[in-house]
Amino acid sequence: MAASLLIAAALLGAIVCAQDVPPEARIEAFKYNGAGCPQGTAVGEISLDGLVLTLKFSEFGVATDQQLVGKRKACQINIKVNIPAGWKYRLDTVRLRGYAGLDATVKGLHKVLYYFTGEPGNSSYSIQTEGPKDDNYEYSGAFDKELYSDCGASRNLNFKIEVRVNNDADPAAQGMIDVDTADSQVIFKPSQALYSIKFAPC
Ligand SMILES: *[C@@H]1O[C@H](CO)[C@@H](O)[C@H](O)[C@H]1NC(C)=O
Repeated sequence: MAASLLIAAALLGAIVCAQDVPPEARIEAFKYNGAGCPQGTAVGEISLDGLVLTLKFSEFGVATDQQLVGKRKACQINIKVNIPAGWKYRLDTVRLRGYAGLDATVKGLHKVLYYFTGEPGNSSYSIQTEGPKDDNYEYSGAFDKELYSDCGASRNLNFKIEVRVNNDADPAAQGMIDVDTADSQVIFKPSQALYSIKFAPC
């Protein structure tokens, strides 16, 4: 396993509201799963007020010196939320941080996608970069669609974060991306957010 994959990596995420948080909106539970976050490689905590979920991952990295399976990794996070009747919600913006070491021509891709359990459709944010790079990075932007949860259904939120490196243009060139070592947070109240959430009355 590449040294880069052994470096503690973490995904940064936070959800923040632009409007008031409806009373009783809270995060109740979460699960994670995927090659980027095998069971046992993340720890998480929901705050006492139920408005913040903090996750820390330890093995979320990709590198070109791996087989294909090590060049692409994803983490699927399922969050059980309580959204009071009369409200719906969506994710708004995303911010991603990490470290990328990419030789010239090596490409890196980040994609974040969300959807609601039991509802059709999804919305995503993606960004592609290309080496040379050897630095920490931070990307932010809006999801491509304003996809709201169904009214009053308290739909669980699923998001999938995928990171890839690709050296197809020059197999001799190398690259790696580690998602940041800081905590990942999902927040239902104003804060320094990485993912932001918007509530709307139905
Ligand atoms: C997201 O939606 C697109 C259609 O807009 C669909 O092709 C794709 O399979 C969906 N992806 C997931 C992971 O649900």
